[in-house]
Amino acid sequence: MEKKISLANLPTKIEKLERISRRLGVEIYVKRDDQTGTELSGNKIRKLEYGLYEAIEQGCDTLITCGGIQSNHCRATAAAGVRLGMKTILYLRSSERQAVEGNYFLDELLGAEVRLISPSDYAYRRQEIMEAAAREVEEKGGKAYLIPEGASNAIGTMGYFAAFDEILEQEKQLDLAFDTLVCAVGSGGTYSGLHFGNVLSGSGKKVIGVPICNDGDHFRERAMEIWKDFSSLLQSDEGMKKEDMLLLDGYVGRGYALNTPEEMDFVLSISREEGIIFDSVYTGKAFRGLVHALEENHELFRDAKRILFIHTGGLFGLFAKKFEFDMRMEK
Ligand SMILES: Cc1ncc(COP(=O)(O)O)c(C=O)c1O
Repeated sequence: MEKKISLANLPTKIEKLERISRRLGVEIYVKRDDQTGTELSGNKIRKLEYGLYEAIEQGCDTLITCGGIQSNHCRATAAAGVRLGMKTILYLRSSERQAVEGNYFLDELLGAEVRLISPSDYAYRRQEIMEAAAREVEEKGGKAYLIPEGASNAIGTMGYFAAFDEILEQEKQLDLAFDTLVCAVGSGGTYSGLHFGNVLSGSGKKVIGVPICNDGDHFRERAMEIWKDFSSLLQSDEGMKKEDMLLLDGYVGRGYALNTPEEMDFVLSISREEGIIFDSVYTGKAFRGLVHALEENHELFRDAKRILFIHTGGLFGLFAKKFEFDMRMEK
């Protein structure tokens, strides 16, 4: 196992969602990875703990990363940078001037240097642009550490590989076993880490990812790419198979960070039914997928009796959606 620094509040709590469990006739629990911290909240900090150890080891003084305008990963990186005494440069994808709100507001508050880039530069040139920024840092006598989108490289994936062990340990303490784990899939690292943990431990659970952009085949390919580097870090010769990766398609909706009225209403109704808040970009779409699949007796969930949903965070991004919620709440 790779080394890490400790930034997240771990282990995170596991709670049962009583009302939804009763309504659906299946036990549904939530792992509160939205509570890994405040500034450092959400799934990204588990991944960053590993990458940032490497950054310190390499003597870096600047972090460079990228994401959408409301990226939770970028906000967590900005906060971690301050904690470690490093400067942070963020490339945020934006097609127009954006209101400084939600995570973007927190990036500014934390003193990150925000550079907005167009969607096409983001799609085709972001690596090149970040590398140029790293050279800029070096010319000034510094040293930069580049973190890819969502920290979903092999080193970042260690975070959820370790989280899988944390879940196994909690099962012993709670004296119960989950047959199914479910998480949102955005850049692939969370799902890959959990899936690799499941395979390598021989636990035999179902680990089901719900893509909130792209589709299941895209993320099967992505997980196989991550596995190439991940298996050499772990020195594992396990054969990872694409066919074993379970992804529930059909819940991307209008696209990344866009919502349908049904998705907004779902987040609203779960808040009022259980007192738990999901964000509408990641966890709301994924949890909606889980609830729908159970209601429809989807084959992936046919034998599921006790499910653990990983609440990967995203609360701050919800503030940028206030206007859309206002319209739903007026109804
Ligand atoms: C709140 C939240 N949940 C889930 C995800 C998806 O995780 P991953 O990028 O590891 O697939 C992300 C980031 O993309 C996120 O910010």
